[in-house]
Formats: sequence, structure tokens, C-alpha cells
Amino acid sequence: MPSYLITGVSRGIGYEFLRQYSSDTNNIVVGLVRNKATTDKKVSEDPDLKGRSNIHIFAADITDYAGLQKAALETAKITGGSLDYIIANAGLVAPFDQYDGIGDLGSQPEQLTKELRDLFEVNVIGNIHLFNLFLPLIQKGQVRKVIAITSGYSDIELTRNWDMTLAPLYSASKAALNMIIAKFSAQFKKDGILFLALAPGTVDVGNHDTATPEQLQKSTAVFGELVPKYAPDFKGPLTPEQSVSLMRTVIVNASIEKGNAGDFVSQFGNKQWL
Ligand SMILES: NC(=O)c1ccc[n+]([C@@H]2O[C@H](COP(=O)([O-])OP(=O)(O)OC[C@H]3O[C@@H](n4cnc5c(N)ncnc54)[C@H](OP(=O)(O)O)[C@@H]3O)[C@@H](O)[C@H]2O)c1
Repeated sequence: MPSYLITGVSRGIGYEFLRQYSSDTNNIVVGLVRNKATTDKKVSEDPDLKGRSNIHIFAADITDYAGLQKAALETAKITGGSLDYIIANAGLVAPFDQYDGIGDLGSQPEQLTKELRDLFEVNVIGNIHLFNLFLPLIQKGQVRKVIAITSGYSDIELTRNWDMTLAPLYSASKAALNMIIAKFSAQFKKDGILFLALAPGTVDVGNHDTATPEQLQKSTAVFGELVPKYAPDFKGPLTPEQSVSLMRTVIVNASIEKGNAGDFVSQFGNKQWL
């Protein structure tokens, strides 16, 4: 039975990964969340998910090393000590830098420092500990795929070629995550473990619902400039269902043999981010 560990299944893209992977009763799906009671309730009230005995929800904040250790032990008990896939989806998306350039944030130095530390704590350090703690399970798995959900914003070429100014701190944290994936790959490719950084595209999870008109205007200005030239076929944000379906195809097809070890790709399996 293929086994999956997915972090951040409380909402958004992670919840959709939980929904899609658990729809196959052959899969064992372990979801990590910060608030287990809330997610248990959500799952039990979801007409699709309620009653799926292959879903197991454990509590762990990705920044809590002891919590992750405990989750690894609990997961091993469910799976018999092995794990086929890690989908490291949990991530911090900070409203602070989503609509501004790096130079504009300089007027708030203390908040800039705090936000960047928080982003690294979750998106980088948390995932390093997650991978190291669950690696013994992956080593005993059959499929051996470790997928980190990153962002197209972290592509340096996109930033350089299209003057992509938005979300500078978040982008830096995801670029660091991409390098961490490449480093894990460099060490563990020889053991047959595929590490891959995978961007989901632009996905509507309600993150912009609280944006001010001024913030939305800034975002519209940047994308209004970018889209016609960079991605003329872009029809607007994907639904979580669409994004996860696309990413699942990339996950199935990616392999060390095909040259994907340590790579950073989009929901299309290439470097087209929108
Ligand atoms: N949506 C997009 O357009 C987009 C684009 C590019 C990349 N991404 C990436 O896709 C992934 C999923 O994002 P999303 O769009 O679904 O965002 P979301 O709706 O904000 O969900 C984020 C998830 O991460 C969890 N999380 C945050 N901090 C955590 C922590 N310290 N410990 C454990 N879990 C934590 C959240 O749990 P709580 O419910 O407890 O807060 C939530 O489940 C993220 O890595 C994000 O960077 C999204």
C-alpha cells in the first residue's frame, strides 16, 4: 500500500492533496497539522472525506522539532516503519511582503527582520528537520519520493528577466528551500531517493481576500505587465483541485533516471511558472 506523508493538510493545497490521495483506498495518507481537532472536525464533516479509514491526522507544528519526532514515530506505527512519499506542503505565506518590493520594505527594518526569520523558520528549517526525521522511513519505502512545495516566485530567471518584484522575502525562503532539496538530492540520490522542488502555480486559496484595494492594485499592475508577454494563455489562478491534479502527474512521472533529481519545476513539469 503506497504511503504518503503530507504536511499542512488543514486547508488550501494541502487539504486537496489529502482529498485526492485518500480517494484511492489503497493509499495510506498521513496528514500533519498544527490543530488536529479542527482538521479532524473538518474531515468528519466533509461529505467526500468522512469515513475514509485511510486518513490519519497527527499534530505537529513544523517548527517544533520534538513534535516532528513524535509524528515520525506515530507515522511509522501506521505504515509499519516505511514511507513512500513526503509532500512537504506546509508553508508560511506572509502578507507583509506579498505586494511590495524589497526596497519598499526597508522602511520597516524590525518587521522585515522578524518576517524573514519566521519565513526561514517554517519554509526552510522546519522542512530540513522534517526530511531528516522522516528519511529513515523513506529509506525503507518502495517509491522513495520527497517533494517540497515551493513557488515560481523563487526562480531567479523569472525575477531577472521579468523584473518580478513581489514577495521578496517569501521568494528568498523558497529559493533556500530549493537549494536544500538539491543538497538532500546530492547526498541521497545514490540511495534511490528522488528529491524534487515543485511549484503549484498560482492557486486561489483565498490568500488575497484580506488584501487592501491598494495592495490588489500593486499586484494587478505587476501581473498585468507580465501575463500578456510571459504567459498569454494564463486564464487566472488555478483551483486547488486543478493544481494538485497537475502536480500529481509531475510527481508520478518524475524520476532520478529521467534527470529530475534535485530539480525545481512547475505544475507543468518544466520552468513555465504561470
Ligand atoms: N496558493 C498559491 O498560489 C501558492 C503559490 C506558490 C506556492 N504555494 C505554496 O503551496 C503551499 C501550500 O500553500 P497554500 O496556498 O495552500 O496556503 P495556505 O492556505 O496558507 O496553507 C498553508 C498551510 O501550511 C500550514 N502551516 C503554516 N505554517 C505552519 C507551521 N509552522 N507548522 C505546520 N503547518 C504550517 C498551514 O496550517 P494552519 O492552518 O495551521 O495555519 C496550512 O495548512 C505552501 O508551501 C505555499 O508556499 C502556494
